[in-house]
Amino acid sequence: MPDGLPESGATAPLVDQFGRQVTYLRLSVTDRCDLRCTYCMAERMQFLPKPELLTIEELDQVAAAFIRRGVQKIRITGGEPLVRRGMDELIKRLGGYLGQGLEELTLTTNGTLLELFADLLAENGVKRINVSLDSLDPAGFEAITRRGKLDKVLAGIDAALDAGLKIKINTVAMKHDNLSEIPAMVEWAHGKGMDLTLIEVMPLGDTGEDRVDQYIPLPMVRDQLSERWTLEDLPATDRNAGPSRYVRVAETGGKLGFITPLTNNFCAGCNRVRVTCTGRIYMCLGQDDHIDLRAALRESDAPDAALNACLDRALFKKPERHEFSIKTRGEAPALPRHMSVTGG
Ligand code: 5AD
Ligand code: SF4
Repeated sequence: MPDGLPESGATAPLVDQFGRQVTYLRLSVTDRCDLRCTYCMAERMQFLPKPELLTIEELDQVAAAFIRRGVQKIRITGGEPLVRRGMDELIKRLGGYLGQGLEELTLTTNGTLLELFADLLAENGVKRINVSLDSLDPAGFEAITRRGKLDKVLAGIDAALDAGLKIKINTVAMKHDNLSEIPAMVEWAHGKGMDLTLIEVMPLGDTGEDRVDQYIPLPMVRDQLSERWTLEDLPATDRNAGPSRYVRVAETGGKLGFITPLTNNFCAGCNRVRVTCTGRIYMCLGQDDHIDLRAALRESDAPDAALNACLDRALFKKPERHEFSIKTRGEAPALPRHMSVTGG
């Protein structure tokens, strides 16, 4: 376990050209996953060779560089982060930065391995996690994930709740696969004291499916839900600054979020950047512009200074907004890279 952040000169906050300060890093640790969700991946995926990936030490170095520059929250993502070898070590290392600038360490997982990791996460200072789950029907779940076993995920969720972790369920709303199930999922999540956030399908990477067949605008879903329940708008707070908007469901008492990258654009408050498992900084999920941290780390004599220079360049390039659309059948995805490469 590290004693503290390794020393380095640069501590200037990461403020972009539009005056937005980056305080939130999403760090992808692998492009691999044990599932193949139909909106995310193709059935057959060619994953990256290991030398392309940042090592655990490099991931740690990158995280430390961001924390020195004012990043307060780190979310570990993938692919599925818990399939990455060395994850236990990374969680311990990053957990060691809590209270030293880092205020929150969190994770997005599909839950299949959560039973094994719940205690380790809680012991290292993780307080809340996101679990992606799109169906509570075993056959439906297996179809959407092309292979997943629902009972593993449910056991993982229970283990995490038992370990004291707070959970937010992320559900991608899909026209044919899970639309009718959404009220039941909200009821289930809220009944277990978990928040649930609905997400619009985004056009990222080829999956072998046409997203026109999957995409459903969330305002439509919200209208349907409001026939059934009273949805009370919650104000945007600092903690949830970002792309989701929340309501309280009066009848269940739980929180319901909507992430609407297609129908609505919340880029103005964007406080985040993403680092891929290969060490590229993407300033925006919806743009291809990036900066390669890995080369700086591996090729420079002074990697910390090189990292800092990359962060400055990245901030300068952070675009004002993304430009997604899903309109035409047969249209190529907005971007060729899958969500699993950039990090969810
Ligand atoms: N569109 C919307 N959500 C996606 N996710 C992965 N790929 C896509 C996509 N193309 C979601 C996962 C998970 C989160 C990390 O991102 O379901 O909840
Ligand atoms: Fe894996 Fe998450 Fe992509 Fe599903 S959405 S294939 S669980 S990375």
